[in-house]
Amino acid sequence: MAKAWAAVEAEAARASKRRIADLFAAPDRAASFSHQVCGLLLDYSKTALDDAARSALLALAEAADVAGRRDAMFAGEKINSSEQRAVLHTALRDPSRPLTLDGEDVTATIRETHARMIEFAAAVRGSGFTGQGGPIRDVVNIGIGGSDLGPVMAARALAPYADGPRCHFVSNVDGADVADVMAGLDPATTLVIVASKSFTTIETMTNAATLRDWMAKAVTDPAAQFVAISSRPDRAAEFGIPASRVFGFGDYVGGRYSVWGPIGLSLMLAIGPEEFDAFRAGAAELDAHFRSAPLAENLPVLLALVGLWHHQGLGYPTRAVLPYEHRLGRLPAYLQQLEMESNGKRVTRDGTPLTRPSGPVVWGEPGTNGQHAFFQLLHQGTQVVLCEFMLAREGHEPHLAHHHRLLQANCLAQSEALMRGRSFATARAIAEKLGYDGEALNCQAAQRVFEGNRPSVTLLYDKLTPRTLGKILALYEHRVFVEGTILGINSFDQWGVELGKELATALGPVLAGEDAGADKDGSTLALAAWLRDQE
Ligand code: F6P
Repeated sequence: MAKAWAAVEAEAARASKRRIADLFAAPDRAASFSHQVCGLLLDYSKTALDDAARSALLALAEAADVAGRRDAMFAGEKINSSEQRAVLHTALRDPSRPLTLDGEDVTATIRETHARMIEFAAAVRGSGFTGQGGPIRDVVNIGIGGSDLGPVMAARALAPYADGPRCHFVSNVDGADVADVMAGLDPATTLVIVASKSFTTIETMTNAATLRDWMAKAVTDPAAQFVAISSRPDRAAEFGIPASRVFGFGDYVGGRYSVWGPIGLSLMLAIGPEEFDAFRAGAAELDAHFRSAPLAENLPVLLALVGLWHHQGLGYPTRAVLPYEHRLGRLPAYLQQLEMESNGKRVTRDGTPLTRPSGPVVWGEPGTNGQHAFFQLLHQGTQVVLCEFMLAREGHEPHLAHHHRLLQANCLAQSEALMRGRSFATARAIAEKLGYDGEALNCQAAQRVFEGNRPSVTLLYDKLTPRTLGKILALYEHRVFVEGTILGINSFDQWGVELGKELATALGPVLAGEDAGADKDGSTLALAAWLRDQE
């Protein structure tokens, strides 16, 4: 690996001296540095990558045995080594291949649960299952992290396909979240889904108890309108939800990879089983590509290598996800968990400290809104950010096609501006036209210079259908896996979230004034005292 990394670094050193725009002197630049599969087009030509750099990156992927580890993942090997677990979220979207794990026929279980989900969704949507005040009009999904971000992001993304009950999402332990949702709903016609793999997460259990109390004031049997999604049916039973209304999944599915199975129930209720299956099928199509395409033609591999190039090779610490698709408003948050919980690690799979930076900070907002917020820094700030644009050929509002054209023009204009920039001479001419001269002219011109040479990639797709969304999410999941594999990281555990949870539990009594907090530092004690109004 050391040799392969050194080759990438040597290429990055060379690349940092060239102008991206100059690479377009080669007439086939755009075609050679873009790739189209499964109806997705990834253009990474507006980066400083050239043939030699791409070859070095592909050699890095070979050296890390990306293909071998990918095959091990699909085969159900326990590649989540710190938890001794297989990683089989892909089986949730294509349970057709038989797969036995620790004596259990995993895909048979997945198929059975999926069939139960369809039956339940059909009953709720068709009024075979009702609330105590009539047909279910609203569904509240309570969950956090992977038990929230997938469904909430996808439900918003696929709003044009929603023809079932209205879906609401409560995640934050801040009472404001649950209060705002309860305020608009009738408990007697509301179904509550408690989505928690562990069924112990304090935020989710607190919100679930609050909603149960709220419901108990309006109906005689509140638990009858509760459903659980969990790998711990025993704990759901303690909460009062019978096994018939628990939809489980195995520990081979991590929270942030779980939207394809029972955690997606709220989405299935909103868009219906057929569209939900199209969502899964899109992901399965991308999986099939990932499993079979050679590395050099493999979309998730290429996306991962472009990411590593900028983050590891060129040292850009963050990347922005910029969907020019308003309904993908929660995608950046979803990808933050997917990428940062997966690859934000300090040690490699064998427990030795990483000698390179871990995965990048991921952030973003939909366009064009972001343009009027943080794009200033992207264009003229001193730090370079890899920008990942996403854009559809077609929107869902044919009667507003002129809006969509404007959206497209803005998206393409941003990547062009980032790369092209504006020279001092041009800026000076602009300032001159505005009437500046002398000292002021140079000062005004300097403000209007764009260095340019800022990299971006663009992902294009036809239309944000359930199938397309499935493909995009699977693309990003596998990208995270490939990046993690090359960095030597286990992308499927999340030990870094534990300490804060433990300390929060211990701080409850301190805030209540029941414990002096002898082991706490002065700052924490002073803050707690101020909150108790006892400064
Ligand atoms: O934030 C940590 C985490 O464990 C995530 O990985 C997970 O998605 C989330 O909490 C929720 O966990 P659960 O589904 O068990 O409530």
